Amino acid sequence: MPTILITGAGRGLGLELARRFVALGWETLGTVRDPAKGAAMPKGSQTFLCDVTDRAALARLARDLAGKPIDVLFCNAGMFGKRQQALGSVDYELWAEVMRVNVFAPMACVEALAGNVAASARRQVVMMSSRMGSMGENAAGGEVVYRSSKAALNAVTKSLSIDLAPRGITVVAVHPGWVQTDMGGPKAALTPEASVAGLSQVVLGLSPALNGSFLNHDGVPIAW
Ligand SMILES: NC(=O)c1ccc[n+]([C@@H]2O[C@H](COP(=O)([O-])OP(=O)(O)OC[C@H]3O[C@@H](n4cnc5c(N)ncnc54)[C@H](OP(=O)(O)O)[C@@H]3O)[C@@H](O)[C@H]2O)c1
Repeated sequence: MPTILITGAGRGLGLELARRFVALGWETLGTVRDPAKGAAMPKGSQTFLCDVTDRAALARLARDLAGKPIDVLFCNAGMFGKRQQALGSVDYELWAEVMRVNVFAPMACVEALAGNVAASARRQVVMMSSRMGSMGENAAGGEVVYRSSKAALNAVTKSLSIDLAPRGITVVAVHPGWVQTDMGGPKAALTPEASVAGLSQVVLGLSPALNGSFLNHDGVPIAW
């Protein structure tokens, strides 16, 4: 039975991913930062407390999981920050926080757990990015805080795909679509179930041939 570890698994897409992989029969581990959120995790999954921006918490998680192979490390936790920050009133403190959560944390998760992934059969890392981080597809402008964080995460993904290739690890970035979660809002195009139905197929279909790619939830490549 393969093992997946999903960060930010207490609500939204992370929770739906946990439900899906439990249903698929995978050993499913999820991180939450609030113990109350752990109660939402599906039966059969295992919950770990971890704020992914907290290096000590990540070191604790790595200690708790020492020697445990992780087939898929799914770095899902993320934040948007304030919407539509007008030129002239950019909140730089918030921007720094978004970078800590969306860029530094996934990198630190990989640093903490790469050994577990390398010890597994599948050896895959999936970064939850966003089409909003694509330079090639940015025709609308705006949202510089979130866009720049996901663009930086894409750069991290690409470099890790090269750096970890000698250890047989495949690293990809994915876009879940615009999804009805706290972040996406109720008007979003997709339900979490529909998004995760696609994302889980993407995960199941991952192979070294896809190393270093940026994939939509339907598996179609997205321009960096
Ligand atoms: N929804 C969309 O339309 C959409 C589109 C493109 C990309 N995405 C990406 O998909 C991912 C999940 O988004 P979502 O829509 O499910 O958002 P969400 O409903 O707002 O959930 C965000 C998740 O990230 C966790 N998180 C945030 N900061 C954290 C931290 N410091 N440590 C640990 N966990 C933290 C949250 O945990 P708490 O419950 O503890 O806050 C929560 O589980 C994000 O990376 C997001 O950027 C979403």
